[in-house]
Amino acid sequence: MELVKTYAEEIALELNGWVELDEIMNLIEQPKFDKQGDLAFPCFALAKAMKESPAKIAEQLATRISNPHFERVIAEGPYVNCFYNKSFVSAEVMRDILHQQSDYGASAFGQTQTVTLDFSSPNIAKPFSMGHLRSTVIGNSLALISEKCGYKAIRINHLGDWGTQFGKLITAYKLWGSEQEVKDAPISELLKLYVKFHQEVGNNPELESEARLWFKKLEDGNPEAQKLWKWFRDESLQEFAKIYSLLDIGFDSNDGESFYNDKMDEVVKLLRAKQLLVESNGAEVVDLSDYSLPPFLIKKRDGATLYGTRDLAAALYRKRNYQFDQSFYVVGQEQTLHFKQLSLVLEKLGYDWPQDMKHVSFGFILKNGRKMSTRKGGVVLLEHVIQQAIDLAENNIAEKNSALPDKRAVAKMVGIGAIIFHDLKNDRQNNIEFSLADMLKFEGATGPYVQYTHARACSILTKSSFEPDQLEPAGLNDEHSWPIIKLLLAFPEVIVKSFDYTEPSQIAKYLIFLAQEFNSYYAHVKILNEDIEQEGRVALVQAVAIVLKEGLRLLGIKAPEKM
Ligand code: ARG
Repeated sequence: MELVKTYAEEIALELNGWVELDEIMNLIEQPKFDKQGDLAFPCFALAKAMKESPAKIAEQLATRISNPHFERVIAEGPYVNCFYNKSFVSAEVMRDILHQQSDYGASAFGQTQTVTLDFSSPNIAKPFSMGHLRSTVIGNSLALISEKCGYKAIRINHLGDWGTQFGKLITAYKLWGSEQEVKDAPISELLKLYVKFHQEVGNNPELESEARLWFKKLEDGNPEAQKLWKWFRDESLQEFAKIYSLLDIGFDSNDGESFYNDKMDEVVKLLRAKQLLVESNGAEVVDLSDYSLPPFLIKKRDGATLYGTRDLAAALYRKRNYQFDQSFYVVGQEQTLHFKQLSLVLEKLGYDWPQDMKHVSFGFILKNGRKMSTRKGGVVLLEHVIQQAIDLAENNIAEKNSALPDKRAVAKMVGIGAIIFHDLKNDRQNNIEFSLADMLKFEGATGPYVQYTHARACSILTKSSFEPDQLEPAGLNDEHSWPIIKLLLAFPEVIVKSFDYTEPSQIAKYLIFLAQEFNSYYAHVKILNEDIEQEGRVALVQAVAIVLKEGLRLLGIKAPEKM
């Protein structure tokens, strides 16, 4: 990116301000074939305006441009092709990276702006599902990427801790529950009660109204209802905390749906004042037929509010409280309609900021081609899945490097890194197949592969006689290092793209390329050979280690130095 700008500036200078810099930058191409140079500027548009032949203009420009970054600038037909000065460019990028260290790739365009990220958001008294895992991992990475771009990131865990299901849960607990059993295994016990409620309600419809009553009591602050609800919530949160601690992920706010219980009157009033509330079968809804969408439910027939009502209150609260410039909702594809409706209702209320809200949606996790559920067939707790990944990683490590000290700590980084990388390496809209064996492989497009490459780079550095922070590399201009240099140059741009598309996969894919190029370098070049270019090669290894580590960090993955 930077070099495109340098090239564009040279051209702009020659054109004497005739064409805007941005326009020139947009015209510059990156040729497919090396012999056409690293950058190419087509002269067709200029030719039209100047009433000259494109080839002639190319000719003139080529002879006049000179810059130490470019070794050769030549006209080829209507194009001005420029070839990088490999030594100069490589020395510069390596110096940048060694100097900036983990700051390399940061940008400032988000400075003074805030982005709120609503992610993870599991439901109380239910297992932490695979979908919530995806949301957690994608949201966490997007928060880190936003910060890298200068934004202030506010991480919000919008817990599903309110709603009619709590009426059902309280009813079930009072009929069939045992305090000790809930304490021993809160999530599976509460889930059992919830399931039993739904089995029994077929025979005994009374239960339904009993549950409604309990939720009403809860909404109205009845002490018994409150106490049970709070207990279920605390127990669930403790279970979730284990997962967050394994993943090393935290939040600025755990304000879930219950937080908005006393903030929904305002929403209802606003809607009423704008005459947006209409009655439908006794319920109150916002009509969205002008958008050919189903109505958005605000109040049920019994007066109870809903998920959507609470999301309206939450959006208003967040705008007011955090003054977000952008607001991301990292939630599965199945809620696309909900978030469309949410934005439209806020627009109908007259706000212009719903355009800054974005539903960052994603596909399912599949097992053998079928949607994977942590609910069906007994409870497979996510925590156990993660532990299993760590165990498998430990086996793999023991096989590869039995002398490694502190294997368990490394296995934790690798096992968890494998799960996260496996999720983030695909475009988020894709469904992903969950296979622990595949994601833990040390070869192929996996987290362990990238981590292993990083560890390999670290081990070369410990063997070298240079002090990493005193490296003053001259450039490299051999064919093996050049693909790596080009990738290192691209890192800042990749980060911006991953933010613009809210796609951590951009970074994950980049890391695979970088790791592959580095491993091929390692296979072809004797890095620690005592010759004049040794320092340059060591600097390259150092730069690669820095970028791999920082790239992994942006995905939420740790990079052990040995594995
Ligand atoms: N708890 C919800 C669920 O599991 C996700 C909440 C997403 N965030 C939001 N603001 N609606 O489906």
